[in-house]
Amino acid sequence: MNRKTIFNPKLSRRTIVKTGLGGLFSSMFTMPLLAKTVLNKSIRRALLGFSAIPIADMIDDVVVPEGYSAQVFYRWGDPISDGAIFRMDASNTAHDQLQQAGMHHDALQFYPFAESSCQGLLVMNHEYIDPQILHVDGGALDSLSSYSAEKTLKEQYAHGVSVIEIKKEKNGWQIVRPSNYARRITATTPIAVSGPAAGSKYLQTKADPKGQQVLGTFNNCSNGKMPWGSYLTCEENFHDYFHVSTKKGMAKKQKKAWKRYNIKHSYYGWHHNDERFDASLHPNEPNRFGWIVEFDPFDPKSQPVKRTAMGRFAHENVAHKIAKDGQIALYSGDDAKFEYIYKFITKHAWDGSQGMRHGKLLDEGVLHVARFDDDGTGVWLPLVYGKAPLNNDQGFEDQADVLVHARMAGEAMGATPMDRPEWITTHPETGEVYVSMTNNSSRGDNDRPASDAANPRDDNYFGHIMKIVEDDATSINFSWQLFALAGDARSNATINGDSYACPDGLMIDSRGVLWVQTDVSSSKLNTDSFAQFGNNQMLAVDPVTGETRRFLTGPVGCEVTGVTMTADLKTMWVNIQHPGEAVPKAMKKQGIKKSPATPNAASNWPDHQQEGRPRSATVMITKNDGGIIGA
Ligand code: FEO
Ligand code: CA
Ligand code: CA
Ligand code: CA
Repeated sequence: MNRKTIFNPKLSRRTIVKTGLGGLFSSMFTMPLLAKTVLNKSIRRALLGFSAIPIADMIDDVVVPEGYSAQVFYRWGDPISDGAIFRMDASNTAHDQLQQAGMHHDALQFYPFAESSCQGLLVMNHEYIDPQILHVDGGALDSLSSYSAEKTLKEQYAHGVSVIEIKKEKNGWQIVRPSNYARRITATTPIAVSGPAAGSKYLQTKADPKGQQVLGTFNNCSNGKMPWGSYLTCEENFHDYFHVSTKKGMAKKQKKAWKRYNIKHSYYGWHHNDERFDASLHPNEPNRFGWIVEFDPFDPKSQPVKRTAMGRFAHENVAHKIAKDGQIALYSGDDAKFEYIYKFITKHAWDGSQGMRHGKLLDEGVLHVARFDDDGTGVWLPLVYGKAPLNNDQGFEDQADVLVHARMAGEAMGATPMDRPEWITTHPETGEVYVSMTNNSSRGDNDRPASDAANPRDDNYFGHIMKIVEDDATSINFSWQLFALAGDARSNATINGDSYACPDGLMIDSRGVLWVQTDVSSSKLNTDSFAQFGNNQMLAVDPVTGETRRFLTGPVGCEVTGVTMTADLKTMWVNIQHPGEAVPKAMKKQGIKKSPATPNAASNWPDHQQEGRPRSATVMITKNDGGIIGA
């Protein structure tokens, strides 16, 4: 149906409200409610106003709709302030890297100095690294003999978080250099620990016998932003960094925990040069990661804090919702096959009087885990030590034990194993909670959980998005429904519009547009049953009608992850992660030559230089007429 026939632009928002208030309604009590309904309808119809773009079939660039511009803003290796500039052959030192953008940008947030300000901070995660791109001649897995301490340090400094200052000039937003706000948090930054697991025996190490100060944060995937202005960074696949040489003499409980947390093999080899990453020698070191970390981006000297009350697992992101009485609920998915969705409810209310000190709210409260019942209802199950089955009979010794081993506590409580829960976002008006389940090829395999109502496909290659509805943020009971089954007609997808696979990043903006970002893994991109989805992408979705339009496609081999906007919705920043990660099958099929500088890279985006390297980067998007994005 032609949209123009539905929406009469002459009947402006102002006209509708005026009519509603002036002539149609008589009761003072019904007026505001009805007026709001009419208003919402007019906003809803106007939600998506751009022309959708086609899939990108191995196009090595960012593509946005007609009338929009996408500009590369902040690449891996760009100085955060006045540090060393990036060398195209990746020969920058570890010291240089410490003052530059980390690798593999993930989620990001914009913090204006004041509402509608033309100056602010952009804060983002650098999730992981590709050693073959980070170093001139590869990492530990490429050549152990040339894997130096300097290389380990450069890898550690390429992880973590960036804070950069940005300012709107005549020609648009620019990075401010030098800046007193510019900061890098890395895999070596001292970080405090708070909450029930702080100081517990599970976190104590030889270097930190009190278990209260950890060196670093890494595999920072997505994030959250609290109403008092802090940034929350989520530690996801921390297990990839620890090496297990032997389990000899290890207690049964420890063995079980390592199995559940997948601690067995390091992809990076840090343990060769930094002994704490040898988990056999330092068995508690892995317990010090897998948390949500909070810090104040406006104070470059502030020490980040690991908030242990929210549990330890592969935290994808954290989204919050404020209850009627001011208590806060924080939702977080555990991105692994058959893991769970969690909700932490603060004990105390937020009243806005304490500034950054409100961070303490995140230390006291109850962590819950979700059970989804087949009838479309569900319950948040409390993970509280002492009540069966979370007691000594079942091997749980205290609350710290429950939180450090949240996955095992969730299992004991009967949580529902999900198809890799990634991002969660909450609707600013309705309070609805949206969760992306990116995929799970093992669903229904021998000895693995079969499909159920909440994860309805065996071999779920394309993923789905779920909607959770609750009366209040503190509600223990909820109802849920499948918002969209991703994929195409062959997989009985239920997308109303442009198709996509493997939803990952989700963000509902202040006017209610749901932005969906995809992460088809590079080994599957552009091949076989994934060919029809093209490169990874971002779509705009109307959560009421489900209408879905493709807004952006990323370069070859990348994942699109992380999106933030200015308050006026006229500038958007999106992160492009791991462009050029090998897509060997697709490249071969299309006769694409590999990059000469990095033979395993499929892309040279964004610099497109013969001797360059693909670089994860933040892209800034604006509408050419200066209008609202997506409208
Ligand atoms: Fe870092 Fe699950 O994505
Ligand atoms: Ca993700
Ligand atoms: Ca993903
Ligand atoms: Ca990723």
